Amino acid sequence: MRSPETRYAAELRSALGQVVRTVPARELTDATAALVARYRSVAPAAAPILASTTQVAAYAAYRMPATHAALVSVLGDLASAGLSPRSMVDLGGGTGAAAWAAAECFDRLESIVVFDQVGEALRLGRDLVACVTDPVLAGARFERAEFRALPQVRGELVTISYVLSELGPAEQESLLVDAMRCGDSVVVVEPGTPDGYQRILTVRQQLLEAGWRLAGPCPHEADCPLRQGDWCHFATRLERSADHRRIKGGELSYEDEKFSWVAATSPSSPALPARSARILRHPLKRKGMVEFQVCRPDGTAGREVVSKRAGLRYRAARDADWGDELP
Ligand SMILES: C[S@@+](CC[C@H](N)C(=O)[O-])C[C@H]1O[C@@H](n2cnc3c(N)ncnc32)[C@H](O)[C@@H]1O
Repeated sequence: MRSPETRYAAELRSALGQVVRTVPARELTDATAALVARYRSVAPAAAPILASTTQVAAYAAYRMPATHAALVSVLGDLASAGLSPRSMVDLGGGTGAAAWAAAECFDRLESIVVFDQVGEALRLGRDLVACVTDPVLAGARFERAEFRALPQVRGELVTISYVLSELGPAEQESLLVDAMRCGDSVVVVEPGTPDGYQRILTVRQQLLEAGWRLAGPCPHEADCPLRQGDWCHFATRLERSADHRRIKGGELSYEDEKFSWVAATSPSSPALPARSARILRHPLKRKGMVEFQVCRPDGTAGREVVSKRAGLRYRAARDADWGDELP
């Protein structure tokens, strides 16, 4: 699994370190434990889950490094496939993880707007970017808005990350309609769990029915070929700061963030180049061969083996990892 120390990860950890110090340690660990339990329950929220300053600080401290890492992985994949937005709108952006990731991944990005219903989360998001060196990130706008009353806004890229589980099915559907109305490309990221994957499948279907073209991770637009009981997800490894370990009560110096995602471009914007097969598991590296489980452009999924006889391709295969395209 890739464990990139992403360009802004250290800057984010340091900004979060300052946040952590503004809240009493005991309050932060209690709020973190309560949020972990709440998010595990996967039930639509009747009222905002992040309501108080302490809850927002706890979310940022224990969760934002991981959502940021997942978003860097997804947006980095799309950037290398040719996506290059100049403007971005993040719906349900909370403390701004996707804004940090987009500023890191897209060289031509000029503007970022983050919408959320929780003023405290937006305030913290603003504080976090206040001292960054990246001018686009530093200039990100954090604006309060309920999904039911989103202002008229456009962004070449619209992101929705780790939001859908807080909404009922009808709200999820209408949020995606709004996202398609606002943007030329839409990226949705959810936890890499069976239920997160189910929500991604629903979004994927909705995008295709609206005539949008998939940009990743699927290399085809046929039905998902994974068997029942399996779910498409990826992972990234991130460093945990001492604060992060303390708040979460974890001892490991790293954590693995699992995520599912889908991205698509509108019918009127240029399509990204076709994708090659996507690696769905950790590759098995044996002597003289590498074995992969992949999802293929023809809509099937299964085993692919690259042997030493493939020369340069074999060398690339030795470096390929879960979530990459098959060399
Ligand atoms: C789990 S947090 C994810 C935050 C951020 N996108 C990330 O990846 O770290 C979900 C966010 O969605 C926001 N949200 C949920 N329902 C909303 C609604 N109806 N209108 C606006 N924001 C909403 C919440 O306030 C919260 O900040």
